Amino acid sequence: MNKKRFVKGNLKKGASDEVLSFTESVSNDWRLYKYDIAGSIAHATMLAECDIITSGEKDAIAGALKEIENEIDSGKFEFKYELEDIHMNIEASLAERIGETGKKLHTARSRNDQVSLDLRLWMRDQINDIVVLISKCQSELVCKGKDNIEIIMPGFTHLQHAQPILAAHYLLAYVEMLERDKGRLKDCLKRVNVSPLGSCALAGTTLPTDPKITAGLLGFDSVCANSIDAISDRDFCAEFAFCLSSLFSHLSRLSEDWILWSSEEFGFIDLDDSFCTGSSMMPQKKNPDCLELMRGKCGRIYGNLTSLLTLIKGLPLGYNRDMQEDKEAVFDSAETAVKCLSLLKDLIKGSNFRESGINKIIDKGFLDATAFAEYLVKKGTPFREAHKIVGEIVQKCSELSCAFNELSIDKLKEFSNMIENDVYEVLGAKNCVKNLKSFGSSSPEFVRMRLKEWESALAGV
Ligand code: ARG
Repeated sequence: MNKKRFVKGNLKKGASDEVLSFTESVSNDWRLYKYDIAGSIAHATMLAECDIITSGEKDAIAGALKEIENEIDSGKFEFKYELEDIHMNIEASLAERIGETGKKLHTARSRNDQVSLDLRLWMRDQINDIVVLISKCQSELVCKGKDNIEIIMPGFTHLQHAQPILAAHYLLAYVEMLERDKGRLKDCLKRVNVSPLGSCALAGTTLPTDPKITAGLLGFDSVCANSIDAISDRDFCAEFAFCLSSLFSHLSRLSEDWILWSSEEFGFIDLDDSFCTGSSMMPQKKNPDCLELMRGKCGRIYGNLTSLLTLIKGLPLGYNRDMQEDKEAVFDSAETAVKCLSLLKDLIKGSNFRESGINKIIDKGFLDATAFAEYLVKKGTPFREAHKIVGEIVQKCSELSCAFNELSIDKLKEFSNMIENDVYEVLGAKNCVKNLKSFGSSSPEFVRMRLKEWESALAGV
């Protein structure tokens, strides 16, 4: 990189190379170039409309900025770290191209409002892209649910057999979680989509600007109403990082489920080979690396949230250079989310439930115990009593190593005279699921309806 030292304002000495490389951010914030240029063109347009520069000057600025954008797009632009950040790199190049006119661009603007603007524009696009990717994952989950609508599997609590559920119901649980994640991101967008441009360094400007013009040109919903807040606020960054943390809490749970389920011990699911790796030593291995990494990446996503919250804690009000540290955190979270989600949608598509593995254990662990207790409730036994009776039958069956429906009616009657022949219609995983009734349950009718609803809600993603 070119090591030209810059002496700014009233400073008598330029920074050393060490200081320059410590303070620069262009090695990261170059990612904002498109937004910086769009923001600058809007700003120049506003300056011209407010008669602060001429329309000829505005055209020259916009033309040169487009040129710079093309050069960055094609990799021809040389970023200089001694120019600190993306804003100064672009502005310096503008001045090199069009001289004095280029130097007018920064009128009524500071890097303090500029950096917040760029970050908000960038985040807006990221949120929209991430929301689309989440929808694609939801679509794949719905599709998998439809394809496996007949599969009944054990539902777990405490990782112990709890009650039988439809595999589709399990998959739809993640669709619901992801929908809330989308909702959170869309809500975050409302706070992101407010323009800080016009706030300048901190207090606004004495020049006759109109921040509504730039906000309108850049598609913002409104303008920040307090210039101090506008340049100091980074809670939109922390909120974005939290939305992605919530998303990753869900992705990591799905990863964990499927890592377990693809193991020899469970054998519930087959993962597509292309998302797994072998071992350099053990020839039989098929390791679920992509899922493990997705689970692992949760660490950096939560770390970025913690960084941001720590970064803004106790900062004196106004811009502080600490805030430059915000970008690596949000860039990393967004990039990680995009990578994981695009991989996940294909991973879901390529995975298949292994019915033979599921069927091996579906009749084990008394998954029908709750349905049995509810059978007694329907016959008039108070629930607590029914719970106790079925508990005793569980003990008996455990001694005999059998399932409930392997006991004769006479044996069952020894525990309660409410038990009749129709008990066999409620026992067994299939009957349990078939007899479910409540809203939101694993009832086949309800799950089929929900699959249809999701299918139409997600159509065209
Ligand atoms: N690179 C800086 C950042 O990311 C831009 C704002 C600098 N403002 C300043 N007054 N030094 O925060």
